[in-house]
This record gives sequence, structure tokens and C-alpha cells, in this order.
Amino acid sequence: MYIVDPEDTNWHLWWCDTGDVLRQALDGDRKLRPYQRVSHFRNHYELTRKNYLYRNLKRYRKALIRAEKFAEAHISDVMPVTFELPSDYLMFVEEYHKQQGAIWIVKPVARSRGKGIFLFRKLKDLIEWKSREVKSQQSGVPAEIYVVQKYIDNPYLVTGRKFDLRIYVLVTSFHPLKVWLAREGFARLCGQLFDLENIDDNRVHLTNTAIQLKASQNTEGISSIKGETGELSCKWALNKLRDYLIAYYEAEVVENLMQRIADLINNIITLRFIFCPHGRVNLKVKKDIPKVVDTVDIEDISEKAVFCRCWRSENWPYCDGTHGRHNKECNDNVGPLIVTKKG
Ligand code: FES
Repeated sequence: MYIVDPEDTNWHLWWCDTGDVLRQALDGDRKLRPYQRVSHFRNHYELTRKNYLYRNLKRYRKALIRAEKFAEAHISDVMPVTFELPSDYLMFVEEYHKQQGAIWIVKPVARSRGKGIFLFRKLKDLIEWKSREVKSQQSGVPAEIYVVQKYIDNPYLVTGRKFDLRIYVLVTSFHPLKVWLAREGFARLCGQLFDLENIDDNRVHLTNTAIQLKASQNTEGISSIKGETGELSCKWALNKLRDYLIAYYEAEVVENLMQRIADLINNIITLRFIFCPHGRVNLKVKKDIPKVVDTVDIEDISEKAVFCRCWRSENWPYCDGTHGRHNKECNDNVGPLIVTKKG
């Protein structure tokens, strides 16, 4: 089902982009009807931006450890040591000196298709990259945010190549939480054999289809990226990967692994449920003015007045009880300010 006209209310699913279109879909004048869905959830970037995902996972693990849920904390321990650039640069340098000889990978937090990613061993390479970035940056445009992560230098390889998994997950509701995991998915394989001596070659280290396809156009005839029938083989169906693994390990081991992946997905989706910290506070009140300021004359208050503090009320600045729904959706605990008149 594919809906394109936001003015038409006769739809169930709006397959919209993020940014302004999503804001319009979620917070525009028209309210979503109970049967209507959009293709993103509010504050989706809490999970989809690499820096926020790392921060949220770290906070979540800390919370689990505090609650002595060590098994769950272990499942969530999936990201290598990560720093945000430019804000964590000094902390990164400290870590860099501790981890002598390590390889590091730099990624822009909000780009896709492998754009802007590179690996380095020497700090001077990062410094040179940074000065090129600063020079090319247009004045007045905020600096792009990157993450720098310790590169995993001993990944599990399939036919000698790095791979990652594309697994499709549908969340139809956060309250109650309903998560659907597609049986079908695929693995993306690098076109070249894994080789740590060759850290400048993206075909060896990045699985992004855009990179592998582009590389294949320049490497006609290289057998490692051709299948038996001669077609490109940088994608394997999940079932094919499963069969491959079962040939090396017991089926039970592979099923356990798949279950752990499902548990991890569940934990990550739960993260968004727990943390909504970077969302805008004010989603809809007087959005056409630069600052919302309200004045209520104390003389006008009869016995008491109840003011909204969640910014969701339809009767701004007064509370209309909408905070209850917000608290459920975001696992929050906001309530109104009650002003009473004495005497
Ligand atoms: S509706 Fe916002 S605090 Fe009650």
C-alpha cells in the first residue's frame, strides 16, 4: 500500500520521508486517526544515528547493570569503543594512545551508502583529514558529526570476506510494544578477501552495496565477486547464510545465534521506548512564533489553575490531561503545575 496525498484522509499507511514531511505527518494540523500509520516513529534518529545509538546503548547497559540484569547487559554489549567527533576528540586521543597499534574507523553519523567512511592507523591521518574537512567547510554551516570507533580486526568471515546482515523489523506499536521480525533478509558480502594490510581499500572493509557495485564496474573478471553463474554474489539470502553456518556448526548453535540477534533487536527497539531525550519539547504549540511566552494574571485565577508542562495540551497553557498519553508513549513522568489561590 503506498499513499502520497497527505490531504486525503482515506489512507492507512503514509510511506513518508523523515524531516519536515515526517513532522507534518505526525504533528501537522490533521491528527492521525487510530487506524493510520506512518513509516517512521517519532525520534527515530535515537536509533538510526550512529552516535545516538551508541549513547543510548551505553546508558541502557549501565541501567541493566545497576539493576543486576547481567545477561541482558551482555546482549546489549555490541558496539566497539566509540567517540563522537569533534566533541570527544581529546578523549579519543587519550584512548588512541592506550590502544597502541589499533585500527580505527571513522563514519559520518547520518550518511548512508558508505559515504565518508575511512580507516586509519596513525593519528596524523585523522589530523590531516580533519584539517581538510575544516578547509572545505562552508562558513555558517555547522561541522558534520562523525563517530570514530575501534575497528574490529578479527571479524567472523564468510568465504574469507566480511559481511553484515540486513534484517527487516516492523514496529506497529510502542504501547503495547509490538515488533515483527521478517523471516527473509540477506547478508551483504564484501567483494574482496579480508586483509588488514589493505585498510585503504573500501571493497575489503565496507559491505555497502553501493561501494561493492561501484567497485565491480572497475574490476570486471575478478572471481571473488562473481557467483558460480557469473553474476555478482555480494548478497546472500539469510537462508543461504544459515545453511552455510550449519555446514560448519550444529543447527542448534546457529538457531541460538539467530535467537540472540532477535533478542538484541528487541533490546534496541526498547531503547527508543525508554529514551526520547533529543526530541523537541514543543511539538505543536504556536509553532509560527520564535518563542512561546504566556502571561496569566494572578487576579484572573479563581481558586486554582492547572498549567501544562508537557507541551502536548490542546488547551495551552492549561493542562487537559494529554500528559498521560505522552508519559505512556515515552516512559516519561511529567505532570502539570497547579497554582492555588489562598485566602
Ligand atoms: S496536558 Fe500537559 S501537563 Fe497535562
